[in-house]
Amino acid sequence: MATVAITGAGRGIAFELVKLHAAAGDRVLALVRNPAGAAALNAVAAASGGVVSVHRVDVGDVASIAAGVAETGTGPVDVVYNVAGVVGTVAPELASADWAAWDEAYAIMVKGPLAVLQAFLPRLGAGAKVINFSSQLGASTWPYGGLYAYASAKAALNRLMRSVATDLKPRGIIVGLLHPGYVHTDMSGPGADITPLESAQGVYRITQDWTLETSGEFLNWDGRPHAW
Ligand SMILES: NC(=O)c1ccc[n+]([C@@H]2O[C@H](COP(=O)([O-])OP(=O)(O)OC[C@H]3O[C@@H](n4cnc5c(N)ncnc54)[C@H](OP(=O)(O)O)[C@@H]3O)[C@@H](O)[C@H]2O)c1
Repeated sequence: MATVAITGAGRGIAFELVKLHAAAGDRVLALVRNPAGAAALNAVAAASGGVVSVHRVDVGDVASIAAGVAETGTGPVDVVYNVAGVVGTVAPELASADWAAWDEAYAIMVKGPLAVLQAFLPRLGAGAKVINFSSQLGASTWPYGGLYAYASAKAALNRLMRSVATDLKPRGIIVGLLHPGYVHTDMSGPGADITPLESAQGVYRITQDWTLETSGEFLNWDGRPHAW
């Protein structure tokens, strides 16, 4: 039985990961910014016999991360999934920009994942994995404009976590970067390519297979390397 921590666990791909890991017999630390508003997750936790526990973590707030992770205990953690994300403004922002939304994007999708990793680091041993949800929009090969804050935050996350992967390799800790697919969630809507369950199943599989040799690589949800 593994212990896994999942941010943004109340909905979308993260919620499917909660259910897959619970069904596999893993202990799940489900981190959400508003536990009272996470009805479906609370129902899963209540029916889990203590396998799934819900903790308040706003990944845009480092104090909240420290407090929420401390509440999850002190035992070893095998996988940390940094999933939480916000898409923000889609249109080009060439005349003006919503700088508060930029701060939020970088807090949630760049600083937040590092702060979550730092908070769990004393509990990660050799073979532990930190799997970061990036996006194809963070790749230099993405051929469209717009989505400036989101796309550049994901590019920053990739660069950041590739450096972290190098620094954690001597300790045997594996760091992954992935594009979860174009997924029918609140973020991408019903016109997207795959369901949240299909995405989560792919992420689950590639997480099991991720090794120290491929630490720092950017993969698609189906395991193919993603150019960036
Ligand atoms: N869907 C896609 O097509 C797609 C494609 C590429 C990459 N991704 C990435 O995959 C990840 C999951 O996306 P999704 O499609 O599942 O998105 P989603 O359905 O919109 O869910 C986003 C999740 O992030 C949480 N979140 C946002 N800000 C947070 C904060 N400050 N603290 C804690 N949790 C926060 C949300 O919690 P609340 O319920 O509290 O808002 C929600 O649980 C994201 O990182 C996204 O960028 C998605």
